[in-house]
Amino acid sequence: MQSFIALYGFLDLVLRAYLLATQSIVVGGVAFLTFVLSPLDGRLDVEEAPIARRCLRILFWSCCASVFGEIVAVGVLTAMLVGTLQVDFAVAASADAVVSHFIAMILSGALALYARLDARSFFMWRGGAVALALLLVCAHVGVTHAASRPVASALLVTTEIVHVLAAAIWIGGIPFFLVALGMTKSGEARRLIASKFSRNAMGAVGALIIAGLLMMTRHTPDLSALYETNYGMLLTTKIVLLFGLLCFAAANLSTTRKLWRASSAPIRRLLRFAEVEVGLGLVTLFCAAALASASLPIEGGAERTSLSEITARFAPRWPSFHSPAYAELSAAQSVSSVAEPGTSSPLSPADIAWAEMNHHLAGVFVVLVGVFALLERHRRTAPMMRHWPLLFLLLGGVLVIRADETAWPLGPIGFFESLRDPQIVQHKVITLLIATFAIFEWQVRRGRFKSDWPAFVFPITTGAAAAFLLTHYGHTEGADEVLIAISHTPIALLGVVSASARWLEIRLSDTFAGRIGGYVWPVAFMLSGFLLLLYREQ
Ligand code: HEM
Repeated sequence: MQSFIALYGFLDLVLRAYLLATQSIVVGGVAFLTFVLSPLDGRLDVEEAPIARRCLRILFWSCCASVFGEIVAVGVLTAMLVGTLQVDFAVAASADAVVSHFIAMILSGALALYARLDARSFFMWRGGAVALALLLVCAHVGVTHAASRPVASALLVTTEIVHVLAAAIWIGGIPFFLVALGMTKSGEARRLIASKFSRNAMGAVGALIIAGLLMMTRHTPDLSALYETNYGMLLTTKIVLLFGLLCFAAANLSTTRKLWRASSAPIRRLLRFAEVEVGLGLVTLFCAAALASASLPIEGGAERTSLSEITARFAPRWPSFHSPAYAELSAAQSVSSVAEPGTSSPLSPADIAWAEMNHHLAGVFVVLVGVFALLERHRRTAPMMRHWPLLFLLLGGVLVIRADETAWPLGPIGFFESLRDPQIVQHKVITLLIATFAIFEWQVRRGRFKSDWPAFVFPITTGAAAAFLLTHYGHTEGADEVLIAISHTPIALLGVVSASARWLEIRLSDTFAGRIGGYVWPVAFMLSGFLLLLYREQ
């Protein structure tokens, strides 16, 4: 039980992100079927029925995924309450948060039944589906800061509902938009679907930004909280990701306008950019999940760093490659088991030098990967340079040995026991993603796969590792954690840029956008490598 409680914070984050993603697709699907397909009923010709059938099927499976997630959430939260508060099961199961998850489970189940209807019946009874989707968003908002503030504010709760709903209509609607547009051959049908969806998405973006900024003013005491607190850092990250999302959305809007003028306009770039929007949207939802579980700076719960500490920490300095001997580390002297949550001991100068050395070493690897990947684009150097993914395997090896010096293989804590520490678990997850990336990408570069899917391992693992890195720090809310979060956030955002650029290089390889993508990700790797070389912990 102790291991479970220790890991709860991390489990809760992953589960919350999973539920936000599945429920955004559920709500986005209901909105797409109701406000895009249903009004076009009878105008999409023969393609209409197969499109609606496919969208209903996706809606059905995302409802099932949401039901499954809610069942796990009810189980995990009830076990957590029984374990920490020593209450019996019935008391734990009646806690507000558990009840909210239970209600969301029922609502997702009811929507799954709705999605089993044929298109005609769904369109006829669409009001009911909209009501269920709205209630699903309300049930989720029941477990957010807005609903759990000491003095509940109807305005704040309503604003959060609008914000979450808008995010779902936009980001959750894109997969349905992609399917519908991908299944239409007629220019007229494409024109109708694209303009209807982009109009709805534009409305949703407007509502999302206004509601987000309003909540931001209510949850943060001042603008400097946006970089002096962990909560603020996550908000700033969301705003940067939103900017990226809007760039792709704007490019797609211009294609939709071209479609409106000439329905034969090509839509390939629009589809590929929309795929990247889904990826960026998922990373933003992951960030939103971390935001909802971080302490609010408004209630004095969150520690703050200061601009002077930030400038002192980020004053450029030559990277050091000096590593203290293991015997000098606190891990060698005092650690025997995993520290209880929130009880970690202060780092010694040797511990700090060790951590900085790890980041500088990683920086060298990542800069080299970027340089070799760029050189691989040159015909003469390509045969030699195409083995650059092996550098990531080496980096993975270094991280396994050095990233968690308190635990196996260097430290006294055994491998399985070390998995009680959420930070160690996240290090292992990120290392696993890096190793998976390296093995697949090496084979892809050598042309060892007949099918195309292995090429997608690169952008997907890089995007996932970046999302984990974005939400990795700040769980202990200390001011030092905020400084560490500030240094890791730009590296993670460059990871998101690399993943998006590689995705476009694969999906639009014969176009200008694809070729640009092929240069952007190696450069983004080099930049994140340089940031790692400048990394400091004091
Ligand atoms: C201007 C940009 C944005 C601002 C200022 C903003 C602000 C916020 C704030 C203050 C919260 C409340 C978090 C809490 O519970 O304390 C929130 C929640 C949320 N935001 Fe945003 N946001 C922005 C953009 C986005 C985008 C682009 C998305 C989606 C792609 C998004 C999705 C969400 C979701 C799903 C939640 C609910 C999180 C949860 O309860 O688990 N936001 N946002």
